[in-house]
Amino acid sequence: MNREENDLEKIKTGIPGFDEIAGGGFIKNRNILVQGEAGTGKSTFSMQYLVEGIRQYNENGLFISLEYDPIFLIEDMKAYNWPINEYTRENKLSIVAPKGGLENPSNMNVDDLINFIFEETDKVNAKRLVIDSLNSLEFIFSKTENYRKEMIRFNSLIGDLECTTLLISELHNNIYTYLSHGVINLFYTKVGANRLRGIEVRKMRGTQHSSYTHAMLIQDSTGIEVLPTEIDFNL
Ligand SMILES: Nc1ncnc2c1ncn2[C@@H]1O[C@H](COP(=O)(O)OP(=O)(O)OP(=O)(O)O)[C@@H](O)[C@H]1O
Ligand SMILES: [Mg+2]
Repeated sequence: MNREENDLEKIKTGIPGFDEIAGGGFIKNRNILVQGEAGTGKSTFSMQYLVEGIRQYNENGLFISLEYDPIFLIEDMKAYNWPINEYTRENKLSIVAPKGGLENPSNMNVDDLINFIFEETDKVNAKRLVIDSLNSLEFIFSKTENYRKEMIRFNSLIGDLECTTLLISELHNNIYTYLSHGVINLFYTKVGANRLRGIEVRKMRGTQHSSYTHAMLIQDSTGIEVLPTEIDFNL
C-alpha cells in the first residue's frame, strides 16, 4: 500500500455490520456501485446510507430517483421508522425526480441531468448522494452518439461533487463496474424452499475488505443489518 492509499479518508455508512466488512466504510467523495437483482435491497441500503449519514455523521443526503415517483419510495420505506419526513422538513434530506424526466425521459439529455444533480446537491448541501438507477441513466445515455464516452464524462462530473455517491444498478458487469471505486453486490438467493440475503464487497480500491459474502437481514422497523458470518448459497 502506498502512502496515498493510506491517507484515503473513509466515511462510515452507519449501516449495522457493513463498515466492518468494508474495511471501515466508503472512500470519501468517490463513486460506489450498488448492484443486485430485483428486491435484493438496493434502495433500502442506499436510503439507510443517507439516513444514517444525517443521524450519526451530520452529512446531508440527496436521493435522485430516476425510476419511481419519490412518493412511492417514501411509502416503501415507511415501515423502517426512519425520520425521513422530519429530515426532509429540516432540509437535511431531499428525495427528488427530475421534472418531466419520469414521465418522458426522452426529453432529458445528459447535461440537463448533470445540471439538475448539481443544483439539487447544492440545495441541501449534500455530502451523500444516491442515483437510482444506472439503468435509467443508460436510457438517457443511449440517445447520445458515444455512449461510453458520455458515461465516462458523467462519472467524472459526478466525481467533481463533494459527495460520496452510490449508483444503483440491476445489471452486473456493466462498464460502471470498472469506472467506480467500489462495487457492492446484493443477493437474495434461493436455498431449498427459502431465499437468503447476502452482501459482498466485490471491490473497494485502496482498501482491505472482507472477501466473503456475508449474511444480511432486512428487518421491519430497523432496515438492513449485515452479519459477520459468511453465507454459502450452494449449501
Ligand atoms: N419493512 C420491511 N421489513 C422487512 N423486509 C422488507 C421491508 N420492506 C421491504 N422489505 C424487503 O425488501 C425488499 C425490497 O427491498 P428494496 O426495495 O430495497 O430492493 P431493490 O433491490 O431496490 O428492489 P428493486 O429492484 O425492485 O428496486 C422487499 O421485496 C422485501 O423482501
Ligand atoms: Mg429499488
